[in-house]
Order: sequence, then structure tokens, then C-alpha cells
Amino acid sequence: MALGDGPGTCPDLAALREHIGDCQRCPLSVSRTTLVYGSGDPSSRLMFIGEAPGKNEDLTGEPFVGAAGKVLDELLASIGIERSQVYITNLVKCRPPGNRDPEPLEIETCSPFLSRQIELIDPVVIATLGRFSTHYVLQTDAPITVLHGRLFRVGGRRVVPIFHPAAALYDGSKRAVLEDDFRRLRAVIDRVESGADLGTATADSAPGTGTTVDLSSAAPGEGGAATGAVNGLPGTPDPEAPTLF
Ligand code: URA
Repeated sequence: MALGDGPGTCPDLAALREHIGDCQRCPLSVSRTTLVYGSGDPSSRLMFIGEAPGKNEDLTGEPFVGAAGKVLDELLASIGIERSQVYITNLVKCRPPGNRDPEPLEIETCSPFLSRQIELIDPVVIATLGRFSTHYVLQTDAPITVLHGRLFRVGGRRVVPIFHPAAALYDGSKRAVLEDDFRRLRAVIDRVESGADLGTATADSAPGTGTTVDLSSAAPGEGGAATGAVNGLPGTPDPEAPTLF
């Protein structure tokens, strides 16, 4: 890799991590302890994208290991998925001081690394956790209250926006909403696994306009019924469909 080449030239996740290095590209480098790159199964077809590391993540270098991570683990377990089966990362790789929201400059500086991670992992389904990663992946600023629990398509991938798990820590009523959204995510996964919604996951992960299919009328776990013809494509079962997990 020549000096000055961007993240897009990194051939794998290890090369991308090396490219990021001891990052000093934005002011978060001054206050962070550890850059949190991402963890989990790099060949998983399911990727979770959070906002930015918190205190525990900053200390350990692992995403979602604090209180919000415990909620995420419980939500994953509620739909029969273990953390080791998925890949988890964040939009911004270093902790904003005091857990403040990431600034536009920080997102602009760091997001090319996420884009390359998406290309390299090549997930079929992306679950965005919270408004920042949702807005980046869908390239919209619509409220998360409107977007969550719905299915979008970006560059051939399915994107399911979900409230940030930390929301359940501050507002107990959000727990049921999160559980419901995870059931909808499970329904999307089940449709892909069954071949009813195979689609094409291309390497084109550039954020773009998502086409929406509203799952909100589907009973939890039965989202498939509402997505029989995503983007007008007939939901033809394909025996060659890959299994996600
Ligand atoms: N919140 C996030 O968005 N990411 C983490 O890694 C931890 C908390």
C-alpha cells in the first residue's frame, strides 16, 4: 500500500486496522485511552453498528462491553443469537469525552473506516443501533423514532435501524420497543436464511437512499409476511441460499 492510500485500498480487516494505526486524525485521539476497532466474527452475514465507545469500551478496546453491551447481549439472546456469531463495531472508533454525541467532524473523519469494514465483512444484514449509525448508513436525518423496526435496502444489503440499547437504561419503556425491533430483525434474518429474500449483497456499501419496506404491521416474528415482494421482487425461495449462522 502506497503512502497516502485511503482505507478503500486495504485488502482485509487486519490491513485496515494497521492503516488506522495510532490514529491522531481527529481531536478524540487526545482524550481516548484505546481505539475500539470492532470485534466478532468477520465472516458473519450480520453486522451491528453502534455509535461510539463508552467508558468501558475505551478502557478495554472492545465494543459494547458496558451496561449497554449487557442489554445488547440480552437482546441478541432473545432472538437466539450469540455475540460471537456477529460482527460489532461503531460509527466512531474513539470515545467522545463524557459520552457526548460525536461531532460532525469526528464522524466525517472516522466513517470511511466503517465504510471499508462494511465492504470487507460484506454482511447481508446490517442492524444500526441508534440514530448516528442509522443516519450515516441510510444517509438520512429522519428521526430514529420513524425509522426503527423498518427494513431498508442499501447497496444490496438489508438495513434494520434499531434504537440504541442504552435507551433501555434511561427509559424503561424502550426495552419492549427494542425487543420488538429485535424480533423484526430475526424475521428479516429468517427470510434471508430461508431464501425467501435472498437479494444480492454487493461490495457497494456506499451509503445511499434506502428503499423501505415497513414491517410495523407484521406480527413479531412474522415480518416475512410483510416482505413477500421486497422492492417488487417476488419472494422466490432459493435452495442455494446461504445460511447466516
Ligand atoms: N455504545 C455504543 O454505541 N458503542 C459501544 O461500543 C458502547 C456503547
